[in-house]
Amino acid sequence: MGAAVEDLDPLNAPAADLTELKQLVYTHRIVVLKAQHLSSADFVEFGRRLGEVETYYQPMYHHPEHKEIFVSSNVKTDEGQVGVPQTGKFWHHDYSFMPRPFGLTLIYPQVVPQKNRGTFFIDMAKAYENLPDGLKKEVAGTRSLNSVRRYFKIRPTDVYRPISEVMAEIERETPAVSHPTVFPHPVTGETVLYISEAVTYRIENADGSPAREGLLDDLFAACGQADTTFEHENIHLQTFEKGDLLIWDNRALVHRALHTVSYEPTVSHRVTVHDEHPFYPGIGNA
Ligand SMILES: [Fe+2]
Repeated sequence: MGAAVEDLDPLNAPAADLTELKQLVYTHRIVVLKAQHLSSADFVEFGRRLGEVETYYQPMYHHPEHKEIFVSSNVKTDEGQVGVPQTGKFWHHDYSFMPRPFGLTLIYPQVVPQKNRGTFFIDMAKAYENLPDGLKKEVAGTRSLNSVRRYFKIRPTDVYRPISEVMAEIERETPAVSHPTVFPHPVTGETVLYISEAVTYRIENADGSPAREGLLDDLFAACGQADTTFEHENIHLQTFEKGDLLIWDNRALVHRALHTVSYEPTVSHRVTVHDEHPFYPGIGNA
């Protein structure tokens, strides 16, 4: 998994090079652009060159000048907290709790910790391929239900609100969404198992009846998402250094922030992009 690309000029590279770059992302899952020096405006512009940029639905994550940038930061500035600390410390795809997730995630680390740097990934196409035949048969034709409710972060404006009111608001604004549990990757054709431990909470048969109790847990165990030691053979730790810009395939990969045990300043900027392919076949159709 993973490929490094040297000497790519994100804003001036010809469109054909960007097409090739995306192809590399689909086939290698993660591409690291080395030695980048982009301003925040340039980073957004690069996202626009790759497709339709999606702005995160919650303003508390927004970069103050570029709302298209999602800021993950544990650093307090003179202006106070910018972005949100402790993001993504659980297995997830980005935006799988939304009706139309995006295909590409771009991360551009700004302040890189000395220790504890990196992100865990699992290739869920490879994980599907290695599933026992019995589980493959069981998930065929099923749908999974996905919700942000378990990891929704309480906002500063939620302090002193009744928790029931906050929870009702989450259900109203981001109701659970149903996606196919497995779908063909629109570029590579591989079958992707589209579930994540943080977001997927139920699997239903095609007729809407609940799937076997324990099926979801069996799938999490088989693919590595239930492994709290992070030693499962499917788990890949991607490290990075200052100047790296990571692009990954948000259909095939689940990811999880590396757990930090001691405080180290960390700031990362994220831009997310809908590529030119449907997220999965038939998405958006009734
Ligand atoms: Fe994420």
